[in-house]
Amino acid sequence: MSTPSPTPPPRLPLDCDPGHDDAIAIVVAARHTDLLGITTVAGNAPLERTTRNAIIIRDLLGIDVPVHTGAARPLVAEPKHADYVHGESGMDGADLPEPSGPPASTDAVGFIIDTCRAEEGVWLVPTGPLTNIALALRAAPDLADRIAGISLMGGGTFGNRTATAEFNIWADPEAAAAVFEYGGPLVMCGLQLTHTFQATPERIQRVRDIPGRLAGVLADLFEFFSGTYVSRHDNLRGAPVHDPCAVLALTHPQLFETYEAHVAVETRGRHTRGMTVIDQRRLLERPTSNCTVVDRIDADAGFAVIDEAIAHFSR
Ligand code: BDR
Ligand code: CA
Repeated sequence: MSTPSPTPPPRLPLDCDPGHDDAIAIVVAARHTDLLGITTVAGNAPLERTTRNAIIIRDLLGIDVPVHTGAARPLVAEPKHADYVHGESGMDGADLPEPSGPPASTDAVGFIIDTCRAEEGVWLVPTGPLTNIALALRAAPDLADRIAGISLMGGGTFGNRTATAEFNIWADPEAAAAVFEYGGPLVMCGLQLTHTFQATPERIQRVRDIPGRLAGVLADLFEFFSGTYVSRHDNLRGAPVHDPCAVLALTHPQLFETYEAHVAVETRGRHTRGMTVIDQRRLLERPTSNCTVVDRIDADAGFAVIDEAIAHFSR
């Protein structure tokens, strides 16, 4: 049995760039949130591939949730992808079905705005570059006061794409800077957290032992994802399963330790563009916190939630 999620569940669109770990984030969101839609952005792979992958995962789950496709490129930066981690397709490693059809629209930003204007208290959960979210906040500044907050995967106390910058922030630093300055509640699941949440061989085997097609596909995806990470690092036994943390931080907050801090996004530094600068000085007079930094997870309990969610949809 996994830990129960809060009631009522958070209502949210998930904004993602699948991506192996984005796929797991979709599964957890489908199980433990009121998932209002899936929006896609270019990131791990070009937009048409991340959109295709999102539709395939949605189809495998058998859920009635629209997929809207969004920004094909960052606000300012040159488009760069992460095939060295996720493969050319963005989700290499499994025998995937064809998507059931096209996305519901090509206006993810409009969908996010309409969804947040339709009711108060919607969460935004981005697990890719922050382009769609920044464009929505720019076009509809009223969203800042209407949403419950933004829970994102990105940043942290060290980098992966560069020594200082995590991929999602590095891929569109100008969008990230706008999001970190938007003024409402912000939850950041960065690399110092997600690198302790690894898809080890034992955890992948537990997914493989779950009956049904979805579990088999996800076990294959986990294996590819872990393979690329383990082959490129000397301190990992499996891929950090980054993206579900941004969902779990809302649905299972009891699994995490957090602290409040002011976080800025560096957009100019030669060595630091895309870095999240976390002010950890314990000054009595310090900048007001704009961010809940999610710092630690009970990894076994987190994977139990993932396993249960996969088993729920796998048939
Ligand atoms: C982030 O970048 C992508 O490769 C993953 O999907 C995750 O969102 C980790 O840096
Ligand atoms: Ca992602």
